[in-house]
Amino acid sequence: MSDATPTELLPDPSVAGPYGSLDPATLRHPDSLKWTFFEEGVIPLWVADMDYPVAPPILGALRERLTRGLGYHQLLGDRTLNGQLRAHLATGGLTDVPEEGVLFLPGVVPGIYATVSALTAPGEPVLTMTPVYHPFHLAITEQGRRVAAAPLAEGGARWEIDWDALEAAAEGCRLLLLCHPHNPTGRVWDAGELARLRDFVLARDLWVMSDELHADLRLTDAPFESFAADPRVRERTVTLTGPCKAYNTAGLGIGAMVGHDPDLVKRVRAAAGGLMGHPSALSVTMWQAALQGGGPWLRETVAYLRGNRDVLQAFVETRLPWARSFPVEATYLAWLDLRAHPRAGEMQKLLLEEAKVAINDGPLFAPEGHKERYQGFVRVNFATSRPLLVEALERMAEALGREAVLT
Ligand SMILES: Cc1ncc(COP(=O)(O)O)c(C=O)c1O
Repeated sequence: MSDATPTELLPDPSVAGPYGSLDPATLRHPDSLKWTFFEEGVIPLWVADMDYPVAPPILGALRERLTRGLGYHQLLGDRTLNGQLRAHLATGGLTDVPEEGVLFLPGVVPGIYATVSALTAPGEPVLTMTPVYHPFHLAITEQGRRVAAAPLAEGGARWEIDWDALEAAAEGCRLLLLCHPHNPTGRVWDAGELARLRDFVLARDLWVMSDELHADLRLTDAPFESFAADPRVRERTVTLTGPCKAYNTAGLGIGAMVGHDPDLVKRVRAAAGGLMGHPSALSVTMWQAALQGGGPWLRETVAYLRGNRDVLQAFVETRLPWARSFPVEATYLAWLDLRAHPRAGEMQKLLLEEAKVAINDGPLFAPEGHKERYQGFVRVNFATSRPLLVEALERMAEALGREAVLT
């Protein structure tokens, strides 16, 4: 074990990046759910918002947009954004998407619900890998379907698909809900895994919904490949995406459902009917501005997140050697295994009450019947300033260290 102190883990402040001096007093404004949900003094590392301000090109475009009308202009979609998005998706291998294959939605989650509703019937099992972003399993159970859960396997250095578990769970399923990159483990499924997964869905004749919302938040240099990059699976896949994770704009609500088969997109959209609503004019402007001029901001932000990821990983390895976490490949969410702690069954409570740090509790990321397996795991949102992150980790280590951990 290294003797490095957390201060030594902190890079030189001169290279601490753009967000080093974020002030909790400013972050705790009344519009911030993340910062006001818990009492003052708690460092909130839970809901997936970043603590970083809006990218200047987006802010500028929104201000300018407000000088014009805010009517139904984009009710039928927006051709500029449609073209920008298709060009962007082509970089991940989603080439040749027809213009009618892009449908804008008020968010990604409505797209998950609509897909489950359109492509499965009540009572049916729907396949997904656990742990997983909770609206995946909620979209299944809240609509009267059953979760066919295939738990991920802990590999030597990363979370991996358990192919046997996937095979076993797939019995009777017609739809796979895939999270790529994966929330909460931070995996970006690699070319080999994607190829095998495509063989699997072809052999099983499955529809696929691939939620690729975190694709632009990659912390490694590996290229990103969309699930539907391979023509063999294009006609059976809907891909969901949006700007809200990469650009921290969840409050403006917009997403897109993208498919090479426009009839499939229409069928999924139709399942939601009039309940779906439409994205707002400001959200369209925001996404246009992000795709047009947000690149430099995103690169700087991703570089900062990479630094935070490294600090967190080093901290866990040196200060909590009994705990486990694999280096996050994408997202700003770390999945920590604290099961060795004697109070693993009440981790969220312990960390909130004794460390004054708010995290998401592991069981949230699994449906009923599977929650027990994730007791002792926590999801940590590290998209804050590096000093605040280190302070939170210090407090966690202190609170966790009050009891001896048997390993
Ligand atoms: C994988 C994934 N999909 C969807 C969402 C939410 O998307 P939206 O706010 O556009 O509904 C999140 C939010 O964290 C997410 O992690």
